Amino acid sequence: MPRDNVILVGFMGAGKSTCGRLLARRLDRCFVETDDMIVARDGRSIPEIFREDGEAKFREFEAEALEALRLKSGDVIATGGGFACREGRMEQLRELGTVVWLAGDLRQLYERACRPGQRPMLDGRPFEAIEELYREREPYYGKAHLMVDTVGQTTDQVIGRILASLRASHAARV
Ligand code: S3P
Repeated sequence: MPRDNVILVGFMGAGKSTCGRLLARRLDRCFVETDDMIVARDGRSIPEIFREDGEAKFREFEAEALEALRLKSGDVIATGGGFACREGRMEQLRELGTVVWLAGDLRQLYERACRPGQRPMLDGRPFEAIEELYREREPYYGKAHLMVDTVGQTTDQVIGRILASLRASHAARV
């Protein structure tokens, strides 16, 4: 498998950061988060970037982060919820390693994502609008190599499922 990274994609609230961090620890690998790369490079928080420069600029920063990801190998990478949802993006991510979609029930994802945090994509939007966004994004996530269902699962159980599906697919050295 080229580069041997494990890349987590999925909607806001899917647990990409929490699971990614723990997975990296379990596999003794480095953990990288695209949102953190953007914040580190730009010096502003994600809400500040959205507020001052708008979503389009943030998406440009995501494209730059993708270029930086090309240098990584053997890492666990958590992407932002919209990172994978551009034309051709999933194909690019698949070149970097094994892409795992952390899937869940939209109501649960929404409730989790709405907990105090910093998610400009949710700001002031009714559930129906988020549902539409989710429906637009689902086909992109569906291009992942592996899908792990997180519904009703604890973090430990999700990690177990990710490891089991990585092993079953022989996709990454785990
Ligand atoms: C976004 C998700 C966020 C972050 C940004 C935009 C999105 O990441 O990248 O606020 O478009 O879904 P999380 O999925 O980690 O919340």
